[in-house]
Amino acid sequence: MKDEDIERPQAMKIRQGIQDAMTYTLPDKTFNPKNIDLVEIDIELDNLGWDFHNYRILNLTDIHLGQWVNPDYLSDLVDYVNTLNYDLITLTGDYVSYNMEDYDIALKNSLKRLNAKDGKYGVLGNHDHWMGSEIIRDIFKESDIVDLSNDVVTLTINESKVNLAGVDSSTVCADNLDKVLAKLDDDYPTILLAHEPDFARESSQTGKIDLQISGHSHGGQFIIPKVETTPFRGPNSVKYPVGLYKVKDMIQYTSKGLGTNSFRVRINCKPEITIITLKNKERKRIEIE
Ligand SMILES: [Fe+2]
Repeated sequence: MKDEDIERPQAMKIRQGIQDAMTYTLPDKTFNPKNIDLVEIDIELDNLGWDFHNYRILNLTDIHLGQWVNPDYLSDLVDYVNTLNYDLITLTGDYVSYNMEDYDIALKNSLKRLNAKDGKYGVLGNHDHWMGSEIIRDIFKESDIVDLSNDVVTLTINESKVNLAGVDSSTVCADNLDKVLAKLDDDYPTILLAHEPDFARESSQTGKIDLQISGHSHGGQFIIPKVETTPFRGPNSVKYPVGLYKVKDMIQYTSKGLGTNSFRVRINCKPEITIITLKNKERKRIEIE
């Protein structure tokens, strides 16, 4: 599908003009790690090679640069990420919001500076398509981010392997799971990057995906205390809007993301950086012995 075939939201420019003014007049527009939820979770995978036991994947999603998140904030966030302990970075879409042209250089400069020992891998979100997927894909190239849109790479450590896959945004019907499945090596566990969390309904049915990592929902920007879910569920994040889910045999993880939608409100729902530590399911048995 070509970019021009994708239906864009109406009055985008007017909306972004208002947004720009508000973004730059905010009193608290600077990055502060205290305002970030650094979520660290362990995920056990079937058939995970021992070389990947304790492997750490850092996920960033929904930066929405230019909509409340300004270039200096993103640059400081990158400095902070670079101080954390992880092996590989994944990015699950919506890098921009309603304006690309004023933010593409800043986005590239920041993504380029993200350090990851084993590389950076990403997919696109609906906003990236609305704003121009080719520009985002060029930014990926210039920032050494491997574009996993409907593609798979094999991560290898010694004898152990993991399939790291991605699908393009399902909101704009750019996803092609069949293409991904055709490239998978079934002997190894598979992690899928999919911007929209409700894509889990489709991916889980294949029986070939072990973990799907998503964003898109921003956690609804309001999480009910104790219940730990949200009543605010937009399109494609109705079923799995925030946190961990078991969907058939697959684990779904939905991050609260970094940016916000037009309403800059987050209640009990801080912006999130996620670190997923992969675990071999057999570890408990080994530890007891
Ligand atoms: Fe999105």
